[in-house]
Amino acid sequence: MTTIDTATGAAAPAEISSERVKGIFAHIAPRYERFNAISSFGAYKLWLRTMAKMAPISSESHVLDVAGGTGEVSFTMAQRKRPASIVCTDLVPEMLEVARAHHAEGRSGDVSMSFQVADAHELPFEDARFDVVTVAYGIRNMPNRPRALAEMLRVLKPEGHLVCLDFSTPPNPAWRGLYGFYLKHMIPLWGGLITGDRAGFVYLADSIRAFPDQAGLARLMREAGFVDVEWRNCTGGVAAVHVARRPGTSHR
Ligand SMILES: C[S@@+](CC[C@H](N)C(=O)[O-])C[C@H]1O[C@@H](n2cnc3c(N)ncnc32)[C@H](O)[C@@H]1O
Repeated sequence: MTTIDTATGAAAPAEISSERVKGIFAHIAPRYERFNAISSFGAYKLWLRTMAKMAPISSESHVLDVAGGTGEVSFTMAQRKRPASIVCTDLVPEMLEVARAHHAEGRSGDVSMSFQVADAHELPFEDARFDVVTVAYGIRNMPNRPRALAEMLRVLKPEGHLVCLDFSTPPNPAWRGLYGFYLKHMIPLWGGLITGDRAGFVYLADSIRAFPDQAGLARLMREAGFVDVEWRNCTGGVAAVHVARRPGTSHR
């Protein structure tokens, strides 16, 4: 079986993870951004900035944001890179509702932005439509990562790029130990206080521990067909931004 339980990494039917993730994000959608800002001590914004710096997006780029949630990545790219268009997608309509409200408040400026409910395992777009695919804290929640990555590759144009931000593994053992303690004890506490959903944040901590490290995620990307996979650590490897390229037709 290629599907896993994203809380443990063990083989399991995809529905276990998909249903859990729908329940968690539908419930916490209105409080999601507050939790991020407080629990990461603001580092979340710095990591988004690193993601924007590394994203090869120009004014002519058509961008797909997968698992876009409340639109943090889409709005960051709109404000910092001003691409031709952004399609912000997510599995959970409640998360996209928050994104739509931000859009209505003008957070995307004059960049053309649209929103669409979509499962990353089955993207409702034709082949080779986008120049860049962004995904932040998304792949970790997907029970069939090879399939989701294959879908991202499929909708990218040849020579297009995937830019992925997610939690990762600090290489320094002392920092890794401290981070492990924070994940296990503080994240469920913060999450429970801010959103009222402690169990959701026990899941968050579990899913981070079960997620591949920097090299493991790079391997998954290569196995899906991406090339030139590189990453940059954020806050000593608490998070990492990976950039990968879909090979051009002449290389395939
Ligand atoms: C932690 S949030 C990240 C949201 C946003 N990218 C950000 O940086 O704030 C994870 C998001 O992944 C979405 N998600 C989980 N599984 C998904 C799937 N199979 N397809 C699309 N979105 C998914 C969830 O609904 C949720 O909005």
